Amino acid sequence: MSFQVGEKIYEGKAKVIFNVQNQPDLVYQEFKDSLTAFNGEKKGGFKSKGHLNRDITSIIFQRLSQKGVPNHWIENQGDTGMITKRVKIIPIEVVVRNIAAGSLAKRLGWEEGRKLSLPIMEFYYKNDNLGDPIINEDHIRILGLATDETLSEIRRMAKIINGELTQLFGACGLDLVDFKLEFGRTKNGEIILADEVSPDTCRLWDKTTKEKLDKDRFRRDLGNIEEAYRKVHERVELAVKKGANS
Ligand SMILES: Nc1ncnc2c1ncn2[C@@H]1O[C@H](COP(=O)(O)OP(=O)(O)OP(=O)(O)O)[C@@H](O)[C@H]1O
Ligand SMILES: [Mg+2]
Repeated sequence: MSFQVGEKIYEGKAKVIFNVQNQPDLVYQEFKDSLTAFNGEKKGGFKSKGHLNRDITSIIFQRLSQKGVPNHWIENQGDTGMITKRVKIIPIEVVVRNIAAGSLAKRLGWEEGRKLSLPIMEFYYKNDNLGDPIINEDHIRILGLATDETLSEIRRMAKIINGELTQLFGACGLDLVDFKLEFGRTKNGEIILADEVSPDTCRLWDKTTKEKLDKDRFRRDLGNIEEAYRKVHERVELAVKKGANS
């Protein structure tokens, strides 16, 4: 189907969101080449980043649809765009962790790379002014960010997504260390996965070399950022073509 992009609604750090003409229930998302970290304080980017993240996200979202996980993806447009369902984003960032890294390792004094005996789910309040602070279910209730019912649905979906993504990245020779999800509510009230799943939002380590193939290369000045994103793209594309053990 052909869609006409309308006016810009919002520009975030990684994507620009536009209306779609005559389609009030859809938005157009343009993936940017810029990279930011530490709540926007550190800035960078590379030429094909928008394209790679758009492709990786769309491959993963299509795969999740096949596995019965409802999400916002409708179709890709051009090199860096995608049409998605319009949702009202639930202002909670859901982080799922399988291996200790980043802020978790720091907070608890754990060694990065420590395998967790079961996945940890964390919630962060999506609020740039506050620097996206970590919150628990009581904070969520008091802030009125989600009802208990909504939160249990989010938990249920995040757990399923962790299983699917661990398997998919596993077939790519990658360990899914941790990742961040955003959920939204459609006009019909359905809760679906939104935003993106990419090396910006996941920690991915090569299973054999332990090489980091994600945004930590940028955060920690490790170099070869573009090469890392390309490797993830290539491997995910190949794994899905091969059926990724499904
Ligand atoms: N299907 C959707 N409908 C409406 N908004 C969406 C959808 N998917 C993602 N968004 C929102 O689009 C915005 C732009 O994404 P981007 O990743 O650039 O934001 P960000 O800068 O990381 O974070 P922030 O949410 O603080 O702006 C985000 O606020 C995200 O929650
Ligand atoms: Mg974002």
